[in-house]
Amino acid sequence: MSEKPEKQENNLMEKLVSLCKRRGFIFPGSEIYGGFANSWDYGPLGVEMKNNIKKLWWQRFVQQRDDMVGLDAALIMNPKVWEASGHLKGFNDPLVECKKCHTRYRADQIPEKCANCGGTEFTAAKDFNLMFKTFVGPAEEEAGIAYFRPETAQSMFVDFPNIVESSRTRIPFGVAQIGYAFRNEITPGNFIFRTREFEQMEIEYFVHSDEADKWFDYWLEQQKEWLKEIGVDQSKLHFEEISKEDRAHYSKRSVDTEFDYPFGQKELYGIANRGDYDLSRHQEASKQDLRFQDPMDPTKKFLPHVIEPTFGLNRTLLACLLSAYTEIEGGRSTTTESIKENEVVLRLDKKIAPVKIAILPLSKKEELSVPTKKLANELRKNWYCQY
Ligand code: GAP
Repeated sequence: MSEKPEKQENNLMEKLVSLCKRRGFIFPGSEIYGGFANSWDYGPLGVEMKNNIKKLWWQRFVQQRDDMVGLDAALIMNPKVWEASGHLKGFNDPLVECKKCHTRYRADQIPEKCANCGGTEFTAAKDFNLMFKTFVGPAEEEAGIAYFRPETAQSMFVDFPNIVESSRTRIPFGVAQIGYAFRNEITPGNFIFRTREFEQMEIEYFVHSDEADKWFDYWLEQQKEWLKEIGVDQSKLHFEEISKEDRAHYSKRSVDTEFDYPFGQKELYGIANRGDYDLSRHQEASKQDLRFQDPMDPTKKFLPHVIEPTFGLNRTLLACLLSAYTEIEGGRSTTTESIKENEVVLRLDKKIAPVKIAILPLSKKEELSVPTKKLANELRKNWYCQY
């Protein structure tokens, strides 16, 4: 969908990027080789925080419910999947090129002047497919072309018959998955907001068609509750109904959850009513019967409709960090000798904070360090501790 123009609010992003590097949350990727554009590595604290978010999400949406099951599917699927799902044809962003230096921009984000050469003339917009192509097998030939998945969702449709058969589920029920997705974005940027590889936490919730609206509202509410639980600043959230022209090719209705990032109000999560679009496309292309057979009623065999709440993991992390970032003027120290510099505090919710317990012995004396180390080792069995 088209995006609102970017605005940079003070230098909060710069401060956050630098804090994340200093404290070991997120580093620029391949830095000793001069970096690699828009790639980021999650450091010792970043990986803990990311894992905490994933664990909490899985507990809340899978483990603690009796209507959800999980999946962890392959990243590279049979290319026929993307033909049937419509991604090969329809997963495009319109792009324009600077006529002078050929730098590419999204057609909805054309700058006044080319950021690379200052040129002001751009080509007409043309469609650019966002899927990452690769070759499977030793020869780089047409027959070996495959794609890295651009969303985790499709495997949950393709595996639908296996899931139903193996887990005795009944409609309504959902399938959840956390995993990587890849998109050859034209304009990645804004730190971890838009990257070419990212993680999604997605749910495909299968329902009777006449209950789709009810479940759409339910899952939108669940997304809001989740954002409250993890400490995202509620005053920075907006829920935008997406117009027909801006919706993804599979969607009957979409609502985006947007967040006030320092670079503007932009998407954090989405929810879509995918109808029976995906199951019917895969049924037609694979020539397999993907209908759900109600075990209690042999006359009821139907293609369920799907409500899809999707949660970007990296944007979750960014929204949490931005919500938690606080500067205390003059610092918290009360001693008169201390230099009164602003102190940066990350007020992260304890559920997602990377370090749960810090053990800070007041002296290095042997008789103190032996029991404190023993205590730390005991606590480490359940918590990430710093000594
Ligand atoms: N299965 C539906 C789907 O993929 P989407 O709105 O294209 O919908 C879902 O993506 C979520 O994935 C977004 O709301 C966002 O949080 C995250 N996301 C999408 N593209 C991203 C990118 N290039 N970098 C980081 N996160 C991204």
